[in-house]
Amino acid sequence: MILPVYVLNGPNLNLLGSREPEVYGRSTLSDIEKAVRARAKSHGLRVVFRQSNHEGVLVDWIQEARTKGSGVIINPGAYSHTSIAIFDAFKALDKPVIEVHLSNPHRREAFRHHSHISEAAKGVICGFG
Ligand code: DQA
Repeated sequence: MILPVYVLNGPNLNLLGSREPEVYGRSTLSDIEKAVRARAKSHGLRVVFRQSNHEGVLVDWIQEARTKGSGVIINPGAYSHTSIAIFDAFKALDKPVIEVHLSNPHRREAFRHHSHISEAAKGVICGFG
């Protein structure tokens, strides 16, 4: 049995749909969860789908994925640009990590141009909503 893919969402992503819709679109996190679950099912995969506004909680979930997950897909939100703790948690995870951003941070403010997470990620997808 393949372990589930952890799909983790960071701070403020619980507000999707009403938060800056011109940047992040009108889909809610619940809409995204449904789409992710449907896509995962079509590939015969299970997902653990979670959101937290708290850095340490995200670290705990990444550590949990060391034994319970097959990999992690994460939108770390603003923690992408600030969190050494999340970077370190990924360095201790010997499984594939994909970083996702709904917007294209490289077209936005300079403080969004660097992500600590990218160095630990196998790939980065951004800017496609
Ligand atoms: C984001 C981009 C980040 O810079 C921002 O802090 C977010 C969302 C995105 O999905 O585009 O919260 O990760």
